Amino acid sequence: MNNFTFFSPTYFVFGKNTENEVGHYVSRFGGTKVLIHYGGGSVKRSGLLDRVIKSLDESGLSYVELGGVVPNPRSGLVYEGIELCKREGIDFVLAVGGGSAIDSAKAIAAGSKYDGDFWDFHSKKIPITEALPIGTVLTLAAAGSEGSPNTVITHEDGMLKRGAAGEAIRPVFSILNPELTYTLPPEQTANGIADIMAHVFERYFTNTKDVEVTDRLCEAILLTMIKESPKVLNNPEDYGARANIMWAGMVAHNNLCGVGRDQDWSSHAIEHELSALYDVAHGAGLAVIFPAWMKYVLDHDVNRFAQIATRVWGCHMDFDNPKATALEGIERLKAFWGSLGLPLNFDELGANEKDIPYMVKTIGLKEDESIGNFVPLYNDDIEKIYKLAL
Ligand code: NZQ
Ligand code: ZN
Repeated sequence: MNNFTFFSPTYFVFGKNTENEVGHYVSRFGGTKVLIHYGGGSVKRSGLLDRVIKSLDESGLSYVELGGVVPNPRSGLVYEGIELCKREGIDFVLAVGGGSAIDSAKAIAAGSKYDGDFWDFHSKKIPITEALPIGTVLTLAAAGSEGSPNTVITHEDGMLKRGAAGEAIRPVFSILNPELTYTLPPEQTANGIADIMAHVFERYFTNTKDVEVTDRLCEAILLTMIKESPKVLNNPEDYGARANIMWAGMVAHNNLCGVGRDQDWSSHAIEHELSALYDVAHGAGLAVIFPAWMKYVLDHDVNRFAQIATRVWGCHMDFDNPKATALEGIERLKAFWGSLGLPLNFDELGANEKDIPYMVKTIGLKEDESIGNFVPLYNDDIEKIYKLAL
């Protein structure tokens, strides 16, 4: 196991009706004038925004609203939010929504404390060391942004989708009420499930030895997702299943299950080009890319793939041919995601083979540069993975 530090100080408030306490938590974490940041309207239709505002009013807090975050959140609204925060003297940013609203809020919070262009954090990978405090009221179990130090934004100039990170943007509190996810359309629920599982896979496939405890935590999250996911698609108001998935989404990405081990993250980078180009959901793109990536890198460590196949997918270990077991695990993953209605290839996603060279180019690697740690991938490897996903 590698040396590591782990400090994940987000205060989680989990359970029914907890959104009604949001004003109390904003005050507790020092906010007096709040930017409420949300998406395209689901929080208005569900009545959640009204309840959040009522709670802020009851705590005597003033606020300014900025809605309109789109999935794959854009830079334009971030610039607008930064200006608004500076003009209005905002001292707390509250995201109400899914990963996109939260990521946009994080970029605004960081940009409000930075003299330069906030995009420096994303394009030059400068760590974010200062930001307004951020709180979240989560409505979608998926990205894990409610507990992560990351923000992913798409810049409209060139439609580049890039991540930035820094402990300063880890939310100070996050309110997780599983009931708020009841209104999700089935495809958004499924996209979220794929993203949560993908966050585990990015950590699971490692070259670091002696990582039994984090292996087992990863497997526990995956087993939970396999058990609970069909339940929420059959019955969107299954509180217990929604609750397990919501917490799994947090634990999958606040790095509890990833400490002390090298992580991969090439599939996320490869997917980001799909969601940037076609504006498809991140989770849907991952469902297409991950099985292709797995097949491409399988030979690097067949035993690790056979391990997940037996421990998570219930495959019988073929000791004479562990590769057959490993491949069966990948097929079971595909069958599982397919059963949730997720796309599994370019056609189903709405992507086009002719765009592969463009996507390889926009990842932006020089000839001798690579992404990923489990198996470093160069431009020609990335092209082959896109082709395997056709
Ligand atoms: O905009 P509204 O109207 O709210 O509708 C949203 C949106 O259309 C809708 N929705 C959310 N909660 C709902 C709901 N509809 C009905 N009822 C509810 N309760 O769902 C749609 C998708 O929302 P979005 O926030 O885009 O989804 P998600 O949470 O999957 O976030 C995706 C973004 O997160 C980034 C992705 O790249 C993508 O841009 N990621 C962020 C990470 C992080 N910050 O740590 C890590 C991830 O790997 C990921 O890259
Ligand atoms: Zn993700």
